[in-house]
Amino acid sequence: MKTVITFGTFDVFHVGHLNILTRARALGDRLIVGVSSDALNITKKGRAPIYSDAERMQIIASLKCVDGVFAEHSLARKGDYIREHQADILVMGDDWLGRFDGYKTICEVIYLPRTPSISTTSIIEVVKGS
Ligand code: CTP
Repeated sequence: MKTVITFGTFDVFHVGHLNILTRARALGDRLIVGVSSDALNITKKGRAPIYSDAERMQIIASLKCVDGVFAEHSLARKGDYIREHQADILVMGDDWLGRFDGYKTICEVIYLPRTPSISTTSIIEVVKGS
């Protein structure tokens, strides 16, 4: 039984999110997703998400490719989360390439290519401009 773990904000859910989660799940038998808390997102991206962490977790948990979700409260605790969930593989988008290589001592680290031309930020910009 191989457990895959990944992390993200997953605000204003879009197909790039679905693609990475589907591909992450295909690398193992079980996919656990750490969803950034609202407070962490403000630190990380400088703004509050459109959807609350409770709503984002509810959406992610409902996906066929996802087996479990939890709130990620601290970027510095990634190692603890990986150990707590007994993850064998950490998957991140290649926008983070090389940034998580330090965790290779506790699990396999795989960066998957991002889906081109879509992001939460670009969706928000389009909606704002209309
Ligand atoms: N992701 C992806 N392809 C995209 C957008 C996101 O594979 N086009 C992946 C990211 O690499 C990350 C996960 O989805 O592993 C969650 O990313 P997140 O930062 O929540 O989404 P973005 O759309 O990149 O959000 P933002 O524009 O706010 O940075």
